[in-house]
Amino acid sequence: MKKIAVFTSGGDAPGMNALIRAVVRSSIAKGIEVFGIVGGFSGMIEGNIIKLGRKETANIISLGGTILKTSRSKEFMQKGGRAAAAEKLKNNGIEGIIACGGDGTFHGAHDIWEEHKIPIVGTPGTIDNDLYGTDYTIGFDTAINTAAEAIDKIRDTADSHGRVFIVEVMGRHAGFIAMDVGISAGAEFIAVPETVTNLDQLYQRILTQGKQQRTIVIVGEGDEVGGATTFAQILKDQYEIDAKVTILGHIQRGGSPTVRDRVLASHLGVASVEALLAGKTDVMIGEINSKIAYTPLKDTWSKKKPIHEYQIQLADILT
Ligand code: F6P
Repeated sequence: MKKIAVFTSGGDAPGMNALIRAVVRSSIAKGIEVFGIVGGFSGMIEGNIIKLGRKETANIISLGGTILKTSRSKEFMQKGGRAAAAEKLKNNGIEGIIACGGDGTFHGAHDIWEEHKIPIVGTPGTIDNDLYGTDYTIGFDTAINTAAEAIDKIRDTADSHGRVFIVEVMGRHAGFIAMDVGISAGAEFIAVPETVTNLDQLYQRILTQGKQQRTIVIVGEGDEVGGATTFAQILKDQYEIDAKVTILGHIQRGGSPTVRDRVLASHLGVASVEALLAGKTDVMIGEINSKIAYTPLKDTWSKKKPIHEYQIQLADILT
């Protein structure tokens, strides 16, 4: 294998640039040419492929976002889109690909391997931390730190006024962000999609705090009750509690990556080049117990990564 390409796809995550940098540097060290596909799967279909070297990837380790841009491509979900992309890759002499993204990215990566036999490995890049086969995903640590910092600020005003605040965090169908942010921010209640949310229990917590005292409630956006706005409406209609709503939104996706995310991305970037050169394909390169782990791409979305039971119990004791 003499020519490989790297791309980022789906929701951007802080640390993706550190991964790109690591892929480029380890490729150069191994004497292979490395290219970047600009714009995720859309860029692959368009053949938007650029040569990467040390110069192009200098000074990017501390940058949030992705210098290679990203997309959620509907066209790539169709066979025709994937065939067009495969043709562009073959025309450019690309012999192996490193994809960085979440489960949507890995579906596409798996399909292009199945249908066109272009070797491809995935690296977990999503703030949601919802991929089976890795303890942490690139971007998760930065996102929870950003959210916790924001909630510390909300706590100041909540405390001064003695108000109930419902803060909604991202995570799609998973509650990893909500759980860690809730514990680290000292929230009084944490609602995650993985457990059944008991609104009477929430009401009791508010009463325990005192109706005129601060209560911070963290809601994962995928909770079965709904988002923060729904929580506030229910509190008003059923319990006569006025609550303020804050939706942290995309602020959680930006910013300079933390040291943990930079190191994880650097490990996985180097390991993904080594995996391709060792003939691996259709697998995600993750890290479990600080060791590189290879998981079939299919397992990353078909198997569920649970929130550990001890963490759920911990949240219950501490909130
Ligand atoms: O998967 C990352 C994520 O930020 C989720 O937490 C969120 O639900 C989703 O992406 C938002 O996607 P978009 O930026 O396309 O609206």
